[in-house]
Formats: sequence, C-alpha cells, structure tokens
Amino acid sequence: MIPSIPKLGFRSISGTPSTGALKDITHLAIPFTDSIEISKSWQKFLEKEFNFSFKEEFTDAVPAPSGKAGEFFEIVIRGESKLKRIYLVGVGERKDIDLRKIGATLGRKVKGSSSTLLSLVPKSSSEAIIHFTSMLLSTYTWNLKTAPKTELPTFQMSADHKDSLSEIKVLTESTWLARDLIHTPSNIKSPEWMANQAKKLAKGSGLNVKVKSGKAISEFGGLRAVGNSSKKNPPHFVEISYRSKASTKQTPHVVLVGKGITFDTGGVSLKRPYDMMTAMKSDMAGAATVLLTIVAVAKLGLKVNVTGLLMLAENALSGTSQRPSDVIKHYGGTTVEVINTDAEGRLVLADGLAYADENLNPDYLIDVATLTGAATLGLSRHFAAMYTRDNDLAKKLYEIGEYIGDRTWQMPLIDDYQIALESDIADYNHTADKYDFQAGSVTAALFLEKFVGDRRWLHLDIAGPARSDADAGENPKGGTGYGVRLLTKWLAQL
Ligand code: BES
Ligand code: MN
Ligand code: ZN
Repeated sequence: MIPSIPKLGFRSISGTPSTGALKDITHLAIPFTDSIEISKSWQKFLEKEFNFSFKEEFTDAVPAPSGKAGEFFEIVIRGESKLKRIYLVGVGERKDIDLRKIGATLGRKVKGSSSTLLSLVPKSSSEAIIHFTSMLLSTYTWNLKTAPKTELPTFQMSADHKDSLSEIKVLTESTWLARDLIHTPSNIKSPEWMANQAKKLAKGSGLNVKVKSGKAISEFGGLRAVGNSSKKNPPHFVEISYRSKASTKQTPHVVLVGKGITFDTGGVSLKRPYDMMTAMKSDMAGAATVLLTIVAVAKLGLKVNVTGLLMLAENALSGTSQRPSDVIKHYGGTTVEVINTDAEGRLVLADGLAYADENLNPDYLIDVATLTGAATLGLSRHFAAMYTRDNDLAKKLYEIGEYIGDRTWQMPLIDDYQIALESDIADYNHTADKYDFQAGSVTAALFLEKFVGDRRWLHLDIAGPARSDADAGENPKGGTGYGVRLLTKWLAQL
C-alpha cells in the first residue's frame, strides 16, 4: 500500500531573483501584515515578469487590506506564463492555528490538480512544519471509484526551512495512511485484515510485530466476548514494537493501546438511531492512530521505546454475540458484568491495559479510543477528551495539540461517580447504569482506570475528532487520522 501523497520540495528564494526563477510554479502564496512580506527586489521582479501592479491589486484594494489572519487577495496572472495565481495572505500575529488554517486553505486551492504551489508564508522551520503538514493533509482523497482521478499537486517551500522536510513528510504520510485504514469499509476491513496491514507496515519500517488470535487470546476475556460475535471476522490482538537503537536504561518505554472495532453494530444492544451506525466503520480509529504513530516514530528514528497494542474485533449482532447480563473475565482475572453490549470499546481496552501493566512495564500507558458519544457533548468535534491523574502530562499534550493541530482538553476523573460502576455479582459493572450520573465519557474513563495498576496512564477519547462530517480545512469527510501527529510529536520530545 503506497499512499499517493503530494510531493513536497524546496527552492531557494534568497538574493536577487532572475528571469525564470519561478518557471515551474503555478501558484504563489506571499504573506502580509501591514505590508507585503517579501523583499522589494522580489516585488519588482514579480510585477515585471508577470505584468501586474501590487499597488493596483493590493494597496489600493477596497476595502483596504487589514492584515488579519486568513485574509486573502487573489491576483490572477494573465498571459502565457505558467504562473496563474498569486495569493496575498494575511498572517495576523502568526498564531499556530492560523498558519495551519492558511496551509489548509492553500492546499484546497490546488487539490485534485497537478498545480505546483510555492508558499512563502512560514518564517521558521517550526512554522513550516504545521503550515505544510496541514496543506498536504487538506488534499487527501479516498474512494473506490472504478476510474479515480489521480492528479496530485506539488508543494514547494523556501530552502531556508528544508530541515523540516522529513518531519512534514513523515507526519503527513502516517496521518494519510491512518485515514486510508479508517476509510476502508468493514466488508474489507476485518480484524485479520487490520493485523495484516500492521504486518505490512511493520515490515516496511523495521518493526517487530506479533499477531495473536484463537486459543492464543483465550485470556483476553473482553476481546473475545466482543469479537466472537463474528464467526467470519474473529478477534485479533497485535503487539507491535519499536526499540530505539540508542536505547539505554533511561530510555522511556511508552505503551499505546488502540481500540480497533472494525465495525460497531452495538451487538444485541443494537445501536440506535440506526443512521449512527454507518459511521461505525471508523470505530478502529484508535488502533489506526496507534499503528501509524509507531510507524512515524520508526521513520523518524526517535530516541524512545514504544509498544503498540491493537485490540481488534468486530462488534456484530449474531447468535454468538454476548448478552446484556453476561459476566466476563478480563486479562488478569477481573470480572465484569456486561450491561450494554454497545459499550464494547472499554471491554477490549481493559484486556490491553491489564496486559500492558502485567507484562510490559510501561513508563507511560496511553490508550486511544472512539469510546463514547458523550465525549462530544461538551467538547464537540474539535477536541479529544483527555483523562489522566498526571496534570503535567495533560498540560504537555494540550500544548503539543495546540501547536500541531490534534487538540485535547483535560476532563476530570470524578471519584464521586465510581459507585456507578459497582456490580452485585462481579467486580464491576461495565457501564455506569446506577444513579444516572450521565457523564458517560467520565465513567468510561473511570472504568478503564481499574485496569492500569499504578501506571502513569492517560486516556484519549477521540469519538469526536476521529471523524469529520465535512470535507473542509485539513480534514476529509470521514476519518481524520487524529492523534498521529499529537502522539508522534509528544514522543519526539520525551
Ligand atoms: N463507538 C461508540 C462510540 C461512538 C459514538 C464513537 C459516536 C463515535 C461516534 C461506542 O462503542 C459506543 O457505542 N458507546 C456508547 C456507550 C454507551 C452504551 C454506554 C455510547 O457512547 O453511546
Ligand atoms: Mn459501541
Ligand atoms: Zn464502539
């Protein structure tokens, strides 16, 4: 599976320009605030070479340019030249969020064409990373049409920031691949198929991978209870690991656990309303994020050790589905009374978390899951609901999210609600049906916490940001690949 991502290159734009300096560029983006932010000699060169006047097109525009972030002036270049458009782009205070948005807007101007766009908007490598990653991601398309359109744009940056090139490529490619997995429909995407994708990707990046199914996962009571609902597509467990070549005793070991429900019908507690169900091919987004984060870490050769656990199962409705009122035994022996079979995510994650705690000695234990619709009630779709007892860790992930674009918001683990998970016949109830606390995302997090021992644990409920309802900005309609950039950047600074 080779993703067709747009090409990204660089060119030197310093010194005095000479005829033909932009000969292959079709679209040029230039930043402005109070004035145009390229040198006078470049301005003169452009006016002469392409026969227009900045004064007419920009300075004298009505209403006058304000320099606010996101303001766009489009100069149409007429005549024979290859250059067709110059975009003058207001950058305001150069906030990260604006540089990302501008990147995505520029990407969309040339999406689906074979144009070559040079953006001079970033002023540093750190700005280039977010600007161009958003730009490349905004051009993503996925379909199974018999005659797909294959044209892809090319992007160019100033050679001043070319040290950011490989990071942009890795972050884009990994997010792109995560999106491909999420977009793949569930008649193709079985747990076994996902495991095979993991094997392929691992092979390509020099990673270790172990796949278990059948008898080998007999101790994973949650994964089996959910996944055995499908005879055709039985549950699989994938353990994929990256070890830094420079690893010492001090090198942190991070374990990432991903919810990999390849389709969520809800099971016997059938999901309603039914039109909610069509989106549920994306219920493996957590597993996709974990997998592609590790691939990105390997490609960047980060100095950290990471193990990914993919909890892969289909939550089907069949004669072998689990029933509301069943009691299951998780990895490690904890018993749980199943209340609503549509709360399947926490059941498969519980096994992964307990397995990591018992066998992998993680310094950080992080799970990523499209876990609850409730997570989107307070935060809508632009933030992941983040739960942890480690406020410093939460702050770090918040800050990285604000920079790179996968945004998080810390939510409270409210101990007063623990009683809702009490069961008369098992160690815990798996959904908080008692006392009607609502707070479904909080109580789901409290449930997961029962399985993490004393580990430094963090839970990302990505039910909101894992999918987009619209093809807009840097996101396509459908799977966004949320979390790959966030976790990769976090791992890079550990
Ligand atoms: N996969 C869903 C959560 C979800 C809902 C993700 C909407 C993305 C968009 C999860 O398995 C689920 O069904 N959760 C239930 C839990 C409830 C039964 C306690 C929910 O949120 O309704
Ligand atoms: Mn469900
Ligand atoms: Zn689910």
